[in-house]
Amino acid sequence: MGPQDLLTMGEVAHRSGYAPSALRYYERLGLVSATRTAGGQRRYERSVLRRLAFVRAARTVGLSLEEVAAALDALPDARTPTRADWSRLSRAWRSRLDEQIAALEALRDGLDSCIGCGCLSLRRCAMSNPGDAAGRQGPGARWLPERLRQPAPEG
Ligand code: FES
Repeated sequence: MGPQDLLTMGEVAHRSGYAPSALRYYERLGLVSATRTAGGQRRYERSVLRRLAFVRAARTVGLSLEEVAAALDALPDARTPTRADWSRLSRAWRSRLDEQIAALEALRDGLDSCIGCGCLSLRRCAMSNPGDAAGRQGPGARWLPERLRQPAPEG
């Protein structure tokens, strides 16, 4: 492969939709790799676009960056995910989406009883204190699946 086959950071950012800062961050996490020119500029193989598409899809499903890195690391020779890899992994992630949907439906149903109420009663409001169980789990939006409580993904 000649240097003309390699992509600059600007080209990867443009084609992937990820900001250069995200590309640098993902490189630090080992999600993508780049070589350096003599002048220290990053150069990427074209396959990086497929890796980034994989990262975006996995993040959309709700995987943490650590989980995405683990999934990529688990591929033979840490290769770029093939069609078959993506098909297999995405099947496994379906149950996660089912869990998230169920949790959001429960959240929505609880909210229904709040609409037009406004009491936020610790005793009877499903949102302010759902069965008192949420309080035992810690602060924050405990009814949301953990992955939906995480900050929005970078890039
Ligand atoms: S605000 Fe009254 S039940 Fe939630």
